[in-house]
Amino acid sequence: MKGIKTEERKIRLAFFDTKPYDQENFDRYKDDYGVDIKYFPVKLSSDTARLASGYDAVCAFVNDEIDAAAADILYRERVELIALRCAGYNNVDLQAVWGRIHVVRVPAYSPHAVAEHAVALLLTLNRKIHKAYIRTREGNFALSGLAGFDLYGKTAGIIGTGQIGRIAAEIFRGFGMHVLASDPYPNEVWATEKGILYVPLDELFRKSDVISLHCPLTPETRYLVNERTLSIMKKDAMIINTGRGALIDTKALIHALKTNSLGGAALDVYEEEDKYFFEDHSSMVIKDDVLARLLTFPNVLITGHQAFFTQEALTAIATTTLENIRAFFLDGTLTNEICYRCTQKTCARKETGRCF
Ligand code: NAI
Repeated sequence: MKGIKTEERKIRLAFFDTKPYDQENFDRYKDDYGVDIKYFPVKLSSDTARLASGYDAVCAFVNDEIDAAAADILYRERVELIALRCAGYNNVDLQAVWGRIHVVRVPAYSPHAVAEHAVALLLTLNRKIHKAYIRTREGNFALSGLAGFDLYGKTAGIIGTGQIGRIAAEIFRGFGMHVLASDPYPNEVWATEKGILYVPLDELFRKSDVISLHCPLTPETRYLVNERTLSIMKKDAMIINTGRGALIDTKALIHALKTNSLGGAALDVYEEEDKYFFEDHSSMVIKDDVLARLLTFPNVLITGHQAFFTQEALTAIATTTLENIRAFFLDGTLTNEICYRCTQKTCARKETGRCF
């Protein structure tokens, strides 16, 4: 780590894909952490990475694309730190940056925000609150078509029992649901204490009335929900995805919905979301036919990657990101570092406190 003396000057941060709420929250705290921020509205990619010239660090979000080409440019421009203001890091080619630029993230800003949104999606989709809202505003108080099902006594399947998945599982238990779980690293102590059962993934797909995705997007989890796994689910099962869009093969999902072999889907994330999400496209034609088709189904509910979006989470994102940056440039501390070897479980960070 080369680092700089923070007493001499403020740390210079190039901030990509800026939204008004980002600027508001980061401006509130940046002086406390000695960080000077240049806000760029554009996404970080190989086309825009040169904007980082002269900056010590870049700050990126979920749809910035730090592939090998972008990483090469950032390294050439002497950027020392990529500070992700999110938990997921599937948009960073960690192998390409390994040994050259450190990557830090915000491992948890509010797991409650995301878990609560997953449950809100399920309740809305199941009880058709979104339709009732529109009906009653127009003076239509008819109930036809609004019937849902009791959650009590049904089975929820949680895929990924990390911070978010565990909270979602506990909320579902609170409804009196049976909860099945799948995770390559099961937390048996927690499961026993909460009355939750780890089962093989196919069994979870077969037995669940509600399936909620909370695992990261990796080569292993890409298209976890696909033609085969959809075919073994209950015909009236509902899928909730607040994880990452490409956990689901969307074309296979559409086929299942068209053939009435799935109860419904509530999606906060979509595999091609970077072209649409976080922006207002209401006066334009949606050219993505898959997204457009999804939006036509009466049993599909889509939110635009807003599961994290609570005031508590925004505050935690700003303060943790700024602390990650301050600590690195002060004395090389990298508490929330993530690297290629971390993802391969071969990183020496546990022993040394650093990835490289
Ligand atoms: P975490 O790292 O605490 O938990 C992830 C869990 O998934 C771990 O227990 C891991 O062992 C498990 N897992 C890994 N591979 C798996 C597989 N093949 N099958 C089943 N489980 C598997 O992560 P956290 O904080 O719970 O977040 C989960 C995901 O939620 C993130 O990776 C991110 O993609 C997404 N997320 C979405 C947000 C939104 O606004 N929609 C906000 C924050 C996170």
